[in-house]
Amino acid sequence: MVSTTRRNNFVPVLELQGIRLHFIDEGAGTPLVFLHGFPLDHSMWDAQRREFRQRYRVIIPDLRGLGRSTSNDEVVTMEQFADDVAGLLDALEISDPVTLCGLSMGGYIAQVFARRHPDKLGRLVLCDTRSQPDTPEAAENRLKLAEKVLQDGPRVIVEAMLPRLFGAGTNERRPAVVDAIRHVMLANSSRGIAAAQRGMAQRVDATPFLSQITVPTLVLGGELDSIAPPAEMRELAAAIPNSEFVEMKGVGHMAPQEDPAAFNPILQDWLSRTE
Ligand code: MLT
Repeated sequence: MVSTTRRNNFVPVLELQGIRLHFIDEGAGTPLVFLHGFPLDHSMWDAQRREFRQRYRVIIPDLRGLGRSTSNDEVVTMEQFADDVAGLLDALEISDPVTLCGLSMGGYIAQVFARRHPDKLGRLVLCDTRSQPDTPEAAENRLKLAEKVLQDGPRVIVEAMLPRLFGAGTNERRPAVVDAIRHVMLANSSRGIAAAQRGMAQRVDATPFLSQITVPTLVLGGELDSIAPPAEMRELAAAIPNSEFVEMKGVGHMAPQEDPAAFNPILQDWLSRTE
């Protein structure tokens, strides 16, 4: 049973299977859904929210256990996150296929959404992400990091991740963006961070499914992304039949946030061409 109510200065919240899912829902027109990365929240898409709500219905959830959305789960799988997005669309009575844009963990979720909810997907945007699962070593490191976060708090994840998120130069060019991301990470609950981290460690290989994604797809990567390097992003695009690949110069893993003045027109142009 789902119901939506408005709380916290008109930020809507959806009661969904025992959790409270907060989300942004602004603008009108074709729904454009943004999924944030780990361990962040809806605010990483603020520059896109301001721009695209003028022409689209922009929906940006705080994913289960992150931002203001609650959860008691010890593990949140990519499947659960994807099903939450489908549940949100159902609750909003959106039956037309949406455009779904996910960055990194948001991209893992978007690929799972494409597999589990194909009738809800009209177009796909995959930013700085990958289809492969973790190697056994990477999965083990994630689980160790999850334990450390539960013990010592979110600063552990800031220390491990923040230096790898941005291209060289973004710190100097856009210190406010780096600071905002740091604050969002620190504000997340240790439990939510650990649950998403454990869920990512359980990812299955999405590569075999890529050839079955037939909706128009934009694959975008930052030239300096060391987490999902452009070579990998190029391969991801090559495996999706109806896709285009764009490499953004001079930026890293958080390409849309590091340079929204470059990213937004790329996305708008692609949206206009694939209407
Ligand atoms: C993200 O930005 O969402 C993370 O880099 C994803 C990951 O840890 O694999």
